[in-house]
Amino acid sequence: MSSNTADEPAIGVVGGSGLYEMEGFEDIRALTVDTPFGGPSDKVVTGRIGGRRVCFLPRHGVGHRFLPHEINHRANIWALRSLGVRWLISVTAVGSLREELAPRDIVVPDQLIDRTGTGAKHTFFGNGIAAHVGFADPYCGDLRENLLAAARSLAPKVHDGGAYLCMNGPAFSTRAEAEFHRIIGADIIGMTNGPEARLCREAEISCAALALVTDYDCWKKDEAAVEVDAVIENLHANSALAKRIIRDVVGRIPETPASAAHRALDAAVFTAPALWPA
Ligand code: ADE
Repeated sequence: MSSNTADEPAIGVVGGSGLYEMEGFEDIRALTVDTPFGGPSDKVVTGRIGGRRVCFLPRHGVGHRFLPHEINHRANIWALRSLGVRWLISVTAVGSLREELAPRDIVVPDQLIDRTGTGAKHTFFGNGIAAHVGFADPYCGDLRENLLAAARSLAPKVHDGGAYLCMNGPAFSTRAEAEFHRIIGADIIGMTNGPEARLCREAEISCAALALVTDYDCWKKDEAAVEVDAVIENLHANSALAKRIIRDVVGRIPETPASAAHRALDAAVFTAPALWPA
C-alpha cells in the first residue's frame, strides 16, 4: 500500500523545538504540499510505523527557521488534513508554572488558555463559512488516554492534565506576567499550541499535546530565569524519549476516527459548503 493514501486515516505528529525528524519510518516519503494558505513549515514526511500511516511535520521547519509568530499554522494543519490526518500528537517544549512540574517531566495537558490574541488569523472559518466549533475541552480525551498510557510505559514522570497557556513570543515572559499566569490558573506555558489545537478542532482532527518541561520560566525565586541554553539542553535530553513515546502511542490509536473531535462540525456550522472529506 502507498504511504500517500489520503483516504486511509493517518496519525500526524508535529515536532517542536528539538524534534525536527523521526526515525524508524517504513515506506518513507517527503511530500511538498501546497494549501490555500501557502506552504507549511516544511515537507511532510510520511511513512509507516507498525503498519499505521504517520505524517510528520516539524513546526519550526528543519533547522528551526520559523519563530512561533512566523509559523503558518493554517497551512500546517490544512496540509496534514489533506493527507488524511485524523489524530495529531503535538510535541511541544514548555515552561513550568508549578513547583511539582519539574524540568524533564512530561505533561499531557487537558486545558488551554490562549493569550496570543491571534484568533482571527488562526481559523479556517470566515469569508462565507459561518461556523463556531465547541472548544470547551480543547484536547481529545480519547487520544489523551492513549498518549498517557504510552508515556507512562516509558517515562519516569508523567503528569495527567494541566492548563497550557499559549503566549505570544518570541520574548519569554516578564516576572509580573509569570506571576499573573500562575494566578489565572495556568500550569505550563508555551508559544504554539493555542492556534494548533483550535485549528485541529476546526479540521475535525483529534489533538493531544506531549509537553516536555524544559524550565521554570521566571517565577521561581531559587532558579535562574529561563534562557534558550537551558531549554535546548533539557530538550535534547528528552527528544529520544519523546520519539519512543510517539512510536508506542501509534499502536494504541484505533484505526477508525470515532471520537467526538472527529464530528466537531456536526453542531458548529451555520452556513458552509462541505469543508472536509469524510
Ligand atoms: N517554551 C519553553 N519554555 C518556555 C517558557 N518559559 N515560556 C514560553 N515558552 C516556552
